Amino acid sequence: MFSRYKKQPAAQPVESAPAPQAAAQTPAPKKATTASANAVARRPIQKKAAEPVASDRDRKRKERLSEIKIEMHRELLENLNLAALEKAGESELRAEISAISSEILESRDIVLNREDRSQLTKELYDEVTGLGPLETLLQDDSVNDILVNGPQQIFVERHGKLEISDITFKDEKHLMRIIDKIVSAVGRRVDESNPYVDARLADGSRFNAMVPPIAVDGSLVSIRKFKKDKLAIDDLVNFGAFTEEMAAYLQAAVSTRLNIIVSGGTGSGKTTTLNALSSFIDDAERILTIEDTAELQLQQTHVGRMESRPPNVEGKGEVSPRDCLKNALRMRPDRIIVGETRGAEVIDMLQAMNTGHDGSMTTIHANSARDGISRLENMIAMAGIEMPLKAVRSQISSAVNLIVQASRLQDGSRRMTSITEITGMEGDVISMQEIFKFQRVGLTPDNKIIGHFTATGVRSHYSERFRLWGFDLPPSIYEPTAI
Ligand SMILES: Nc1ncnc2c1ncn2[C@@H]1O[C@H](COP(=O)(O)OP(=O)(O)OP(=O)(O)O)[C@@H](O)[C@H]1O
Ligand SMILES: [Mg+2]
Repeated sequence: MFSRYKKQPAAQPVESAPAPQAAAQTPAPKKATTASANAVARRPIQKKAAEPVASDRDRKRKERLSEIKIEMHRELLENLNLAALEKAGESELRAEISAISSEILESRDIVLNREDRSQLTKELYDEVTGLGPLETLLQDDSVNDILVNGPQQIFVERHGKLEISDITFKDEKHLMRIIDKIVSAVGRRVDESNPYVDARLADGSRFNAMVPPIAVDGSLVSIRKFKKDKLAIDDLVNFGAFTEEMAAYLQAAVSTRLNIIVSGGTGSGKTTTLNALSSFIDDAERILTIEDTAELQLQQTHVGRMESRPPNVEGKGEVSPRDCLKNALRMRPDRIIVGETRGAEVIDMLQAMNTGHDGSMTTIHANSARDGISRLENMIAMAGIEMPLKAVRSQISSAVNLIVQASRLQDGSRRMTSITEITGMEGDVISMQEIFKFQRVGLTPDNKIIGHFTATGVRSHYSERFRLWGFDLPPSIYEPTAI
């Protein structure tokens, strides 16, 4: 029945998958010489190399499976009627692949145990229908981010920590084939002349790839997995990202329509925070969201979502975040949420915040509230607006009410490290006051951060506004935590 899939006479030699990188040795600390005996001893640098998780036996088994799989996959692709398969149901296809692989294995006298056999069928199925080796990681809910550094090295982020996975691609060609599959599904192309691309996977995950020659050691891929259930305020409080008091304060801030900027570094939890904050918006309001890749999941009924579009291969068809924002202003929004402000749209964002769309929110890439303000100033300058610095600052200070700082700390935990209010201008300088902060006090022996959240003792500049809107926060909320 499956004779057309039988092995062709000469099988091509198969390269064996290279062994995962060996753990780099930590250099032994040098002995102190007499002259430097009193010098402060430096801690040896911890070189945590990409340690393969699998044992040697496991690795050999995987290599063998991988060899068989590659060969079988090639045969499958050569012989399968892909057009017909597209119409086949999942179980039908799985059964077909399982039968074909049994036949090939038998014809080659390869004996596999049950577990290996079903693993092989799964991988072949993923290869034919999905994104090959990436598929397992995409389906693993404990994985947040997938970072591919060339075909032999895939890192994943689990529970805030980056670790190497034992999954690899066969070679660069295999990796490129999967990248091509992803980008062609969204009508884009990536090759030497277009070496990088941003796309959204079918499940909503954010995808970026850069291919050689710009990526020197093989294609670089980053995937931020889409979480079906975004972390809600309660989850974040439970995870220790901020306190109940801070949540109550943020609820008052969002409900009384303060303009809020979430600032933070890459992967620090800006979008997650923005999404959680949006849950405080009243359901009756009309919200418009603008993003490069639609990630926000608002719970309200009245939401209009926009996604900007980069230019196509011929450099045409771009719809910038600024275009979306300008258009959004004509669409009668109560609030505008911009996923990330990073360019010329800053002008329109500040104007919107200043002119009736208060309660708007966005994120920026910055390491502190002060740094965030400088970023805004720079973005305005880069957008070619010639305004004296004082005028720029006064525009910012009247538009932005609150800066929430999200940080990914060195132990991998994500926390809201500061909530800062903008209170106006003093001379040429924007005045700010920090209301809550994360106070670090030390590090445990296994490098976990010790610290606590505390109010700074400063009462909110907006407390009267909160009271008038029915959010009468108790004064104790602003008292520093006694330790
Ligand atoms: N407090 C938290 N605790 C645990 N995980 C978190 C927390 N906040 C965010 N995450 C997870 O961290 C990852 C990165 O979060 P998010 O996408 O919000 O970051 P970001 O700052 O917007 O990143 P980027 O700069 O890439 O846009 C996500 O997978 C998210 O689910
Ligand atoms: Mg983000």
